[in-house]
Amino acid sequence: SPATDRDTVERLLRDVPDFPEPGIRFWDLTPVLADAEGLAATTRLLSAPAAAGVDAEVDVVVGIEARGFLLGAAVAQALGLGIVPVRKQGKLPAVAASRSYDLEYGSATLELPADVLAPGARVLLVDDVLATGGTAGAASELVEQCGARVVAFSVVLELPALHGRDRLGERAVHAVLER
Ligand code: PRP
Repeated sequence: SPATDRDTVERLLRDVPDFPEPGIRFWDLTPVLADAEGLAATTRLLSAPAAAGVDAEVDVVVGIEARGFLLGAAVAQALGLGIVPVRKQGKLPAVAASRSYDLEYGSATLELPADVLAPGARVLLVDDVLATGGTAGAASELVEQCGARVVAFSVVLELPALHGRDRLGERAVHAVLER
């Protein structure tokens, strides 16, 4: 059941103090993904945005670098769909759209590959953590810039204190856990 799956994820989730910087608590999904039941439970939970009251019709998964690749591929396979990666700048040979967003210090740029996301495609966006929402916001704008639609953003862990949802406007957020 979803409750059992959530228990499995919570049991395996690990938090690391003072990484990557002093004062920052890092939520690490590595032990969850390394465990067969942990990966299966996470995949089931992320694949079911309908559980959050969201229209479940999805055409393609978009995974955000880097942990969104691992999770997104598993979700895409579970739903019988393909996956498109949103990458950090400079990795893709052909780019459909590019978007910069603010980090705590400085900024970063995400890119969507050319010729893979059809206009009108219904997208399930996947990542591991929703913190400030800068990453997910930029990824959503990239998808929409290409004429596709973000049906939902599915994430394992939301940190509500950082108000990431505010950066996502009206877009539906399906978070498995909050911390
Ligand atoms: C982390 C995480 C999310 C993002 C969330 O990725 O995996 O993608 O930060 O933070 P935000 O909501 O404040 O934008 P990171 O930038 O560390 O990149 P990586 O996965 O490539 O290491």
